[in-house]
Amino acid sequence: MTENEIYAILSGVKYPGFSRSVVELGFVQRVAIEGDRIVVDLEIPASSAEIARALREDTARALTAAGHKNAVLNIAQPQAQTSSRGKNLAPHIKRFVMISSGKGGVGKSTAAVNLAVAAAMRGKQVGLLDADVYGPNVPRMLGLENARLDTRADKVTPPLAYGVKAMSMGMILEPSQALIWRGPMIMKAIEQFFTDVAWGELDALFMDMPPGTGDAQLSLAQCVPVSAGIVVTTPQSVALDDAKRGLDMFVKMRIPIAGIVENMNGFICPNCHTEHDIFGKGACEALAREYGTEMLAQIPIEPAIRKGGDSGRPIIYDQPSSETAKRYLIAADRLWTFLERSEGDNAGIQPVN
Ligand SMILES: Nc1ncnc2c1ncn2[C@@H]1O[C@H](COP(=O)(O)OP(=O)(O)OP(=O)(O)O)[C@@H](O)[C@H]1O
Ligand SMILES: [Mg+2]
Repeated sequence: MTENEIYAILSGVKYPGFSRSVVELGFVQRVAIEGDRIVVDLEIPASSAEIARALREDTARALTAAGHKNAVLNIAQPQAQTSSRGKNLAPHIKRFVMISSGKGGVGKSTAAVNLAVAAAMRGKQVGLLDADVYGPNVPRMLGLENARLDTRADKVTPPLAYGVKAMSMGMILEPSQALIWRGPMIMKAIEQFFTDVAWGELDALFMDMPPGTGDAQLSLAQCVPVSAGIVVTTPQSVALDDAKRGLDMFVKMRIPIAGIVENMNGFICPNCHTEHDIFGKGACEALAREYGTEMLAQIPIEPAIRKGGDSGRPIIYDQPSSETAKRYLIAADRLWTFLERSEGDNAGIQPVN
């Protein structure tokens, strides 16, 4: 029996709720063979005892199946306030905001772009990382599809649009280049977004995630301490529990939840400017209460939002006096209050109210 054999067995143990193994995710801290006993130390980012229990059972089962009954498994769950596991590949960036959803096409990228531009309009130093390596669409939404990067220097300088420094796989690859990448390559690419991009000093980096609640999110959380998670959902997704999956993922990864953006609820008539309720209100608020978080914004279905995305002119910038732009701006302010309050909490200062 060798340590490599043990690693091979652990490579078959998936982290509960994710498709990658504890080895791939870098959660195995140590494997030791002490006489006829195996010792495995794991460090996981989750707070919940349930995940640790499931992991303990799965690991024991895998080792026993391979004939190793005498194993000691230590699972450490650091009590950090953020997803940080002590690692920050981009220390010049003060805060990392992850925008995620349980389901595709609900408006994550639209929300990420408009929130980032809103924060920039408030005078913050802001970056936007398109972490959707398979379907990057931030470049188009910011009018940067023709941006060419100078890759001769040590670090790539992110192009600026509407006061936001943006970086995306879409700026590196030709649009038609099909991405048939495997997990480890994506992890490497995500790491390079932090180590090889000259972000400079930022108040916050917004991270637009691919749909789903899995590996890309976990990879990011391993690179930087995520200060806030935002779930974007539609009223239908709430009914289908997709929104819950997004929230559960943040809970699992110990990412503080800043709030929910409910998108495509209601319709503001372009002629009479009346807001029509389509799906009924309330389900999302109830969900926010259940998770002890708040509604950051309720954004109606509005043709101008899609047009703004397609033409690279975000509605927040293009039509700042529209109802939707106002709501995104309020959402950005709420997010900022959340960020500053949680920093106060971390510093042991009691927030006022
Ligand atoms: N409130 C809205 N009103 C009208 N159109 C919208 C609204 N929100 C988003 N859209 C449009 O819906 C489409 C999907 O939005 P978006 O790309 O932001 O979703 P996504 O969650 O990032 O998708 P994916 O999961 O593929 O990354 C886009 O064409 C966008 O312009
Ligand atoms: Mg998207």
